[in-house]
Amino acid sequence: MTPNEFLDKAWQESGPKLISGFSRPVYHNVMGLLRGRKYDKKAYGGMIRHTEAGMLTTWASQVPRGGVIVEIGCYGGLSTSYLLRGLKQHGGTIYSMDPFNSDLDKQAELTDNCVPLDNKPTKALVEQRLEKNGFAGMFKLIEGFSQEVAANWDPSIKIDFLWIDGNHEQAYRDFKDFEPYLNPGARVAVHDAHPRYGYQEVVRDVRKIFAEGQWEDMEHVKSIIAGRLIK
Ligand SMILES: C[S@@+](CC[C@H](N)C(=O)[O-])C[C@H]1O[C@@H](n2cnc3c(N)ncnc32)[C@H](O)[C@@H]1O
Repeated sequence: MTPNEFLDKAWQESGPKLISGFSRPVYHNVMGLLRGRKYDKKAYGGMIRHTEAGMLTTWASQVPRGGVIVEIGCYGGLSTSYLLRGLKQHGGTIYSMDPFNSDLDKQAELTDNCVPLDNKPTKALVEQRLEKNGFAGMFKLIEGFSQEVAANWDPSIKIDFLWIDGNHEQAYRDFKDFEPYLNPGARVAVHDAHPRYGYQEVVRDVRKIFAEGQWEDMEHVKSIIAGRLIK
């Protein structure tokens, strides 16, 4: 099945949710129950579903020992906490970026209106949260916009898992900006990529992302589309 055929099946209006060989809804639901309920979604102002959270933890636990995860769009640190929980199994570092509550004029100009700009979580608040959750020393929060972070990226830092959940109008750009730093076999996962409960711009961009290169282990978990980039 090509990535395009996979996406057509994942997003079809009706019919079986099981996509042979690729998508595992029973497994995803079990992971959601076991691993996707640890952190208080309401308190963090988080936007991921339990199954999605469970699979973020699972994928993060599969990153090679000492590996690197990059998260675009940290917000209150909910998805960051699930990623760190998985990453902690073998050790590694997550670089998570978000403008947080800085540069609010620029955020207002560029916003896709997915989060309110009043009372946005601060970097300091999220740092405290992650430390309290037991992840001290495992994360680096970067206050800024992904384009600028990518432009200044240290090329010696290679990425094993790229999680894209920032500005929903630029998922493809985020992928292209960080693509040069992906290790072979790196997982890429994109949030809000579903025509019915995501953003049309992300749906469009996900088609473009997965039309390029060679992908393995594609998965569809609610509004996440993920795959491993072989080359
Ligand atoms: C949907 S929220 C992320 C939610 C978070 N991943 C979670 O599940 O808990 C998107 C975040 O990305 C931020 N954002 C928007 N544009 C961005 C950019 N260019 N670079 C980094 N973050 C961006 C938004 O301000 C917002 O905080």
